[in-house]
Amino acid sequence: MCGIIGCTANHSVVQTVVDGLKRLEYRGYDSSGIALVSDGIKTIKAVGRVKALEQKVLGERATTAIGHTRWATHGIANEQNCHPHLSSGGDFAVVHNGIIENFAELKDFLLQRGFEFYSETDTEVIAKLIGYYYRGDTARAVVKATRRLVGSFALGIVRSGENKIYAIRRENPLIIGLGENFNMIASDMPAISHLTNKFVLPECDELVELCAESCNFYNTNLEPIKKTPQTVRVEQNTFDKGGYSHYMLKEIYEQPTAVDKTLRKYIVDGHISLPLKNYERLSIVACGSAFHAGLMAKYFIERVAGIPVDVELASEFRYRQIPSQNGRAVIAISQSGETADTISAINHAKAQGMDAYCIVNQKNSTLSRICTPLYTEAGVERAVATTKGFLTQVIVAYLIGLSHSMDKSLLYGIENFGRDLKTALNSTDLIQPLCSRFYTCPYVMFMGRGDDFPAAREGALKLKEISYICAEAYAAGELKHGSISLITPGVPVIVLANDPSTGSKTLGNIIEVRSRGGTVITFSSLSGYGLKEASDYFVPVPPSPLASLLSVAELQIFAYYIALAKGCDIDKPRNLAKSVTVE
Ligand code: G6P
Repeated sequence: MCGIIGCTANHSVVQTVVDGLKRLEYRGYDSSGIALVSDGIKTIKAVGRVKALEQKVLGERATTAIGHTRWATHGIANEQNCHPHLSSGGDFAVVHNGIIENFAELKDFLLQRGFEFYSETDTEVIAKLIGYYYRGDTARAVVKATRRLVGSFALGIVRSGENKIYAIRRENPLIIGLGENFNMIASDMPAISHLTNKFVLPECDELVELCAESCNFYNTNLEPIKKTPQTVRVEQNTFDKGGYSHYMLKEIYEQPTAVDKTLRKYIVDGHISLPLKNYERLSIVACGSAFHAGLMAKYFIERVAGIPVDVELASEFRYRQIPSQNGRAVIAISQSGETADTISAINHAKAQGMDAYCIVNQKNSTLSRICTPLYTEAGVERAVATTKGFLTQVIVAYLIGLSHSMDKSLLYGIENFGRDLKTALNSTDLIQPLCSRFYTCPYVMFMGRGDDFPAAREGALKLKEISYICAEAYAAGELKHGSISLITPGVPVIVLANDPSTGSKTLGNIIEVRSRGGTVITFSSLSGYGLKEASDYFVPVPPSPLASLLSVAELQIFAYYIALAKGCDIDKPRNLAKSVTVE
């Protein structure tokens, strides 16, 4: 993960780099650092959030600087391991997003030649290697060093005495922003889109050399290459919580608008229009909540359109032999469009000749550039735990199913989804008191059947992510195949029951749980099955053909108020990052 940024200008860039780091903080937030270039290199580092670094750089000035916000891969979050990392003698400083797989071998190579290391990171190896290859030409040293790297990287490199930034990438994202009397590098466009809308996207292993007034690109033989900048309008990041105590709560309540915007994008005059051809079979690849969106899509698309859908974790799909099959397309689902495994899964599918699409929120993200994008209109999502990103992903996936369905009445259900969602979000008054009752529980079990099963999985993931409570979801029918052994008196079991065809079966599961002393909290749109009477607590879900998805919104509220009661850092939960850019 991690975010990198750099700026070289004819004025001081320290605050620019710190501001950029704040915009990249979603990529990792355990520590951050900056390298300021003058006759020497000064590094300033801080453990914790970027605001801790901001305090430390007050009064500092430099016309060239690189910065980094870290999500620890190699070594704990302390100042030694925090980037930028230095070569021996401290002439070069390096910031890195990615993972160097052969770092141990390279470290041995350098140790044998007398180099000493102060950190546990793979990045320090890169800085030392550049120093090792330096014979008076920085560009050549960088190219020689990166030739020896195996793995993924986006690097920003500076050298003492040079008012320049060198940058190079392989697999990981890196963008170059061009301005008037300044030039920049960054992990993504939104980090610097408030300063420029002129960007160049370097290809793998192309070297970039930036100074305040010029930007040069070189191929791997260090021959100059010409690149044409693109002018891109990037949606501006909002740092405003809009009166809510957390971005997550704000984003939960933005869902009806996000859903309506997404629907209006694809439903014109009662007709669904999507840039997707007809296929006999679809493969969905995704990670985290986006994987759950894929599972919800599978149940729906297979039911309404009869198209077989396989859903796979991107991290598994990318290493699998995929039996070749004509008429099959792959669809990635991703809020950020930068998840490393999802990108690799798409590249793997494309290498097998499959058509590739992505349901993606971030415009101009890597995924949106390597496959045909079906954009969600969630807007900027800042809380690490996704809410509106997830819901709009499911909506776009449902539209794929509906566009192939004979049952046009479902279109009416989806068009009214925003209205039903508002009703569901009004359940806070019922849900919040439950949270004060259950926030001390060490374990919460979730279950559901059909569409309610992936919905329960998403609800459990939300709770786990932000409240650190152990939460697992089971298909209700699986209860008797093992998980019932976890039920002891007082264990809370959240039951989703929105499918009339399995209402009485789920009632049976509720009774089984209660017979063993479990406490049942049912979220349901069904009436007449005795579910409410059989449960300890009952939260109504608005009746809708998409009620399972509505219950996810209610479970987001449940997770939020549990985490609030526990005093957790809701928008930036420990150990997580919004965009997982390493495998
Ligand atoms: C991280 C985030 C999750 C997200 C997952 C996939 O784990 O914390 O909220 O669902 O990545 O991210 P993507 O951007 O590909 O949807």
